[in-house]
Amino acid sequence: MNKRVPTTATTHSRRGLLGGLGLLAGLGCTGNAAALLALTPVQTRGPFYPASLPLDSDNDLVHVAGHERTASGDVTDISGSVTDASGNPLAGVRVEIWQCDANGRYHHPRDTHARLDPDFQGYGQYLTGKDGGYRFRTIRPVPYPGRTPHVHFALSGAGAKPLVTQMYVHGEPLNRRDALFRSLGDSAERVLVRLRNASQPGARYEGTFNIVLASG
Ligand SMILES: [Fe+2]
Repeated sequence: MNKRVPTTATTHSRRGLLGGLGLLAGLGCTGNAAALLALTPVQTRGPFYPASLPLDSDNDLVHVAGHERTASGDVTDISGSVTDASGNPLAGVRVEIWQCDANGRYHHPRDTHARLDPDFQGYGQYLTGKDGGYRFRTIRPVPYPGRTPHVHFALSGAGAKPLVTQMYVHGEPLNRRDALFRSLGDSAERVLVRLRNASQPGARYEGTFNIVLASG
């Protein structure tokens, strides 16, 4: 069964990327002068990257192959583009995400603090297309003891330096008390995503997280 979430609406104009992410430099430049996008900041991988990847590791985390029930939580579509600092889309980049389930529990043997939601995949991966786009269907991240809601991301691909980071939700009140989030300082804006009402059937929220990788 092919349940990949289609990569619609993942093409972002260069102008849109610049507007969404903010320019690092070149504000006095005109035309196609070398304006650079700010790189997406690094964050710790944390202790809960899957000990073994699930058999079902596609980009739809709310449906596990062979399960009739869907994951608990608010279904959320997260998509975006992966580019270099010049705004060029990066194709063939492997984007991995992992996060805790709606009970705040990771699908990892070291996390036993809450009841497991067996219908949440916990991890997914996607290979960017020619437009650098990626898309996941997952749940809105929830807090767990000591952390504000977040989604872990790891990216790797030819021509770019690997990146491990975390995505946060704009407006979450726990952000201001989260040590890892606070450590980002001004660069927190580059990993904050505004969740809006979803445009696709079956989802409640959607958000855009554009990622800028250093050239490798
Ligand atoms: Fe985490």
